[in-house]
Amino acid sequence: MGKKIKAEPFKIKAVEPLNIITREERDKRIKEAYYNVFNLKADDIYIDLLTDSGTSSMTDTQWSALMQGDETYAGSKSFDRLQEAVERVLGYRYVIPTHQGRAAENILFGTLLKKGDLVPFNQPFDSTAAHINVNEAETVDCVVDIAYDTQTYHPFKGNLELEKLHRVIKEVGKEKIPFVMLTLTNNSGGGQPVSMANIKETKRAASKYDIPLYFDAARCVENAYFIKQRESGYSTKTLAQIAKEMFSYADGCTFSAKKDPAVNIGGFIAVKNESLYLDLISRLVLYEGFYTYGGLAGRDLQVLAQSLYEMTNEDFMEQRIQQVNYLGESITGAGIPIVNPIGGHAVFVDAKRMLPHVPQSRLPADALAVELYREAGVRGLGLGVLAFSKQDTVTGAVTFPETELLRLAVPRRVYTDRHMDVVSEALSRVRDRKDEISGLKITYEPSRLKHFLSRLEPL
Ligand code: F0G
Repeated sequence: MGKKIKAEPFKIKAVEPLNIITREERDKRIKEAYYNVFNLKADDIYIDLLTDSGTSSMTDTQWSALMQGDETYAGSKSFDRLQEAVERVLGYRYVIPTHQGRAAENILFGTLLKKGDLVPFNQPFDSTAAHINVNEAETVDCVVDIAYDTQTYHPFKGNLELEKLHRVIKEVGKEKIPFVMLTLTNNSGGGQPVSMANIKETKRAASKYDIPLYFDAARCVENAYFIKQRESGYSTKTLAQIAKEMFSYADGCTFSAKKDPAVNIGGFIAVKNESLYLDLISRLVLYEGFYTYGGLAGRDLQVLAQSLYEMTNEDFMEQRIQQVNYLGESITGAGIPIVNPIGGHAVFVDAKRMLPHVPQSRLPADALAVELYREAGVRGLGLGVLAFSKQDTVTGAVTFPETELLRLAVPRRVYTDRHMDVVSEALSRVRDRKDEISGLKITYEPSRLKHFLSRLEPL
């Protein structure tokens, strides 16, 4: 007898047809898109693994919450529901709704940062780093060294290296460090979790210098799932209990609700401290809107409140992580190198290893994204030089990131495991003809957030 099969813990109430175009048409479309997959159109894509952000499928209870939204401008009942949910699920008293995660970053960072400040992170997401940079401050990656080694297993590759944190604080002084931040899970490092022990130690280390700790909490429940699986003492706790414990160690968080809560739009900041809350809402009114809606419709607030209760559903989270794992194992089974262990929301293909003949200056991760699209209409996202290279503001010298990864991010409850088979098969076919791939060159680049807007051309 083989393993007992566990099927999806849901049945499907509404479906959306997929469009499949021919190889010749795809070749045309990717050329028209300047070889940047961000410029492709929905109808030209068969399986879209560009992102798991805002692209998940909602439950019937989430859909019904939308109908209960209260559109009152100031004092919306839906805001009260959100406040209750944030307090019950995360344990924070104050919530500031924003239209998505980066709006929360704008409000928090714009309030807390001044020119020359440094923000130690495990690793920031690119939009997060950009929001710190527009305030003339810098991020410092303090992730454990093993995070850069894509092949060796470590259960918590998102952990922050405390020695690196202490070194930064000693070097620049605590006055220049308004806060420390942990991204849960660490998207830029391959969707890797941070352990509860590391969260606690980071909090303790920062507190020694009176520096607050914030979370970028977009995928905090995936992080909780890995803690439950991998950290001793947590296997019998619920995801809700683990998440609440995680949040108890931070002073607040920015939260893109388009990830684990699986809403199509929405985000927030949550904090414990009232005077910080008051500072933040004065900036909120300027950029997002009144403090009881902050850039969202009443229905969005209502569904977000509902979603915070649902995001810790054990069965759904198990299916979600197992589907990503299934995709990752199929790809590894075909002999293609991926980041080990497999992340929570995505499989990260190691483009440097898969295309060793393509130098980093020729954008191997983005070249792989283009080839996977041409092969099967599957859209992934290149995360390498284009997304993460850093330019020194004084000397102009460019530093390349350590890794070149093709991210295949799986939306929640949208695709079946059969779709995952199509993706891994297509990737194998790309690998079989890898010698034809020579990389891409940039023909246009904007000054920041290059991977969204650059125009590229095959070499
Ligand atoms: N933090 C993390 C860890 C993220 O992954 C993202 C977005 C943000 C903040 C910003 O949130 O999109 O709501 O403004 N990540 C998406 C992705 C875009 O594809 O990983 P947002």
